[in-house]
Amino acid sequence: MPSNPVAMSHLAGTAVSQRTKDGAPAVASEHKGSAAPSASRVPELTVIVPTLNERNNIVPLLDLIETALDGVAWEVIFVDDDSRDGTADAVREIARRDARVRCLQRLGRRGLSSACIEGVLACASPYVAVMDADLQHDERLLPQMLHVLKNEPYDLVVGSRYVEGGGLGEWDERRATISSLATRLSRVICKAEIADPMSGFFMARREVFEAALRKLSGEGFKILLDLLASSPKPVRQKELPFQFRQRQHGDSKLDTLVAWEFGMLLADKLIGHIVPVRFALFAFIGALGLVLHLGVLWSSLTLLGASFVTAQAIATALAMTFNFFLNNLFTYRDQRLRGARLIRGLASFYLICGVGAFANVGVASYVFAAHNAWWIAGISGVVIGSVWNYAVSSVFTWNRR
Ligand code: GDD
Ligand code: MN
Repeated sequence: MPSNPVAMSHLAGTAVSQRTKDGAPAVASEHKGSAAPSASRVPELTVIVPTLNERNNIVPLLDLIETALDGVAWEVIFVDDDSRDGTADAVREIARRDARVRCLQRLGRRGLSSACIEGVLACASPYVAVMDADLQHDERLLPQMLHVLKNEPYDLVVGSRYVEGGGLGEWDERRATISSLATRLSRVICKAEIADPMSGFFMARREVFEAALRKLSGEGFKILLDLLASSPKPVRQKELPFQFRQRQHGDSKLDTLVAWEFGMLLADKLIGHIVPVRFALFAFIGALGLVLHLGVLWSSLTLLGASFVTAQAIATALAMTFNFFLNNLFTYRDQRLRGARLIRGLASFYLICGVGAFANVGVASYVFAAHNAWWIAGISGVVIGSVWNYAVSSVFTWNRR
């Protein structure tokens, strides 16, 4: 233990419990040789920057932020999802010299929204901003945002591309169209009157996050939209225009997964309180499988003249394979299995469903023997099988624990 809590509380005031663990403030103030007590170094603004392979953007971004926030007690938390390019190491390298810079590295997880949420949970500042690492967001807006929150009756300030003076920079037409379509779709779940709910650049009072934290969906890319849709009461928000800049280093992570996550977020906000979206999707694909199943069962019985048990077994095997691939594509897109893991996943799915199918064929044959109605028998078997399949495969095939 480098420091004694009582002496520290003298120095750091109310921040003591947060700071005694690593003794950071005492060391930091010694470093700078400043006479100011540690308490004055406590940040009032935390900028959360989610990162995925942004190594080359870290230094330029910090330089820009430092200039823009001159005179403000700020800190930056980079929330990195274990980037391959050593982003986290690059951040820690700077953090060793500058106490305003911190790294929160997450292992085995992905997601811009959840990264931002954890960044908020890791800081204590009364004002929290979210900003991309790739220099596309105009850092010169930060002091203006802070000024608005401190002096005007707003809880949230959004960097907006869609108000007078804002813009998309050099976006191609296709992306602009997709963005405007998504913006219109998002109005379905968003309670606020806002021109740019898809912006990833904003600042809010800490209470805005805290009031919504437990209701946030946390899925995907749209943390602002999630926040607005999850806030218990309307958020007083103001938009400030900015021009979306071009990315200089690294690549955009916007791909079909992001579109999928956007759909999941919308669905979660629409039906999530009734039934979990993933289960609904699994059930929907199961229903498609059922149609296939019944079709195959019917054709095997009537066209091939197979016995009922054989026909039901063939239909089950085909539906199982069909369901595995559709679920891997849609339900579990965020943990999609590929290559060797796909083969292993399929094998485990067969194994799990094999047990389910055993019950399926057994139950179906039993029902068929009792009622002689092939379709009631077929459905009964499938229902028993799918409940088992969902419960067990979500854990063992797609590793959701
Ligand atoms: N931790 C973490 N985990 N960070 C991520 C992840 C992730 O899974 N995916 C992306 N990021 C980081 C990137 O490193 C970058 O700093 C920021 O999130 C935005 O990612 P980009 O890949 O640059 O996104 P974009 O430019 O296509 O989208 C931006 O503009 C949209 C507006 O159209 C983002 O700001 C979106 O939030 C915004 O909606
Ligand atoms: Mn970007």
